Amino acid sequence: INVGILFGGKSTEHEVSLQSAKNIIDAIDKEKYDVTLIGIDKTGQWHLHDNSQFLLNSNDPKYISLNKADKDVVLVPGKETEKLLCVSNAGASGNVDVVFPVLHGPYGEDGTVQGLLKLANIPFVGAGVLGSAVGMDKDVTKRLLRDAGIPIAKFLVLHKWNQDSLSFAEASRHLGLPLFVKPANAGSSVGVSKVKDEQQFKTAIEQAFAFDNKILIEEFVAGREVECAVLGNEATIASRVGEIVAQQEFYSYEAKYIDENGAALEIPAKISDETEQKIQEMAVNVFRTLCCEGMARVDFFLTGANQILVNEINTIPGFTKISMYPKLWEISGIAYSELIDRLIQLALA
Ligand code: DAL
Ligand code: MG
Repeated sequence: INVGILFGGKSTEHEVSLQSAKNIIDAIDKEKYDVTLIGIDKTGQWHLHDNSQFLLNSNDPKYISLNKADKDVVLVPGKETEKLLCVSNAGASGNVDVVFPVLHGPYGEDGTVQGLLKLANIPFVGAGVLGSAVGMDKDVTKRLLRDAGIPIAKFLVLHKWNQDSLSFAEASRHLGLPLFVKPANAGSSVGVSKVKDEQQFKTAIEQAFAFDNKILIEEFVAGREVECAVLGNEATIASRVGEIVAQQEFYSYEAKYIDENGAALEIPAKISDETEQKIQEMAVNVFRTLCCEGMARVDFFLTGANQILVNEINTIPGFTKISMYPKLWEISGIAYSELIDRLIQLALA
């Protein structure tokens, strides 16, 4: 079985994707699967890599970098394909049996690539077009969850066209202080700010709009951040629950990928069995409500009063060294390479 690993991508999480892809390629059972590496560079060009070893063996930080300042991170030059069609031809001619999109953020986690693969008749890992699209957009996610009676934090939405319509006074009256401002479609906390005063509010809105035409203003939820991994199609299972203990103001991009001491993971989270079970049930409920398939990681807030609120879903969760998804399965009894195997088999089912 030939697995096409699709990685990189145009989104702000390009570097995160490189790390995720590297770990997946390391973990994949090479007796069972052949690997075809398909890289998308930051301009959106697709590259088919002849040398499937480059990510496996490379510790070269030029290729595998999480440093946001390193704007020149490029994929190793490979034989340039005729972009998308080449991939569908590869599928049609039997070269790629299934694709594992390891792309985080817009142009990969949002249904665009999923639509392309669907059209090209190539099975792929993870959610389809709808689940991917709704899971990427935090505004749509929250509306669907609210409609299903699943608890979420209070939020307001601003579009580019009405971006001046919300004053700081109004926002803080509705949502209290501090507030979070974030792009509707982004991941890894890119463009997210915690806001305590009017000046920060203005700056935060500008920053969030730099990444999207739609942004969310959310209430701050005092509590713990816990995450649960989901796996399966119709028969869906939830993992043990893990906790993020952020050492900074919040679990920012820096805290995630740059500052080694930015956050600690507590796996499994020190919570009661009852709370863990509730979170697991909610994770599956969120997964189904948002029409997901294959995999997702659902992120929650757990308040002091033991209230559980859904923060967001990630339909292509991180697979980096610090990422929760594979770690949660590991302690739940599914080792890394078995997890990859299961995900591929779910795509082929
Ligand atoms: N968006 C990142 C990759 C995550 O959720 O893990
Ligand atoms: Mg995310």
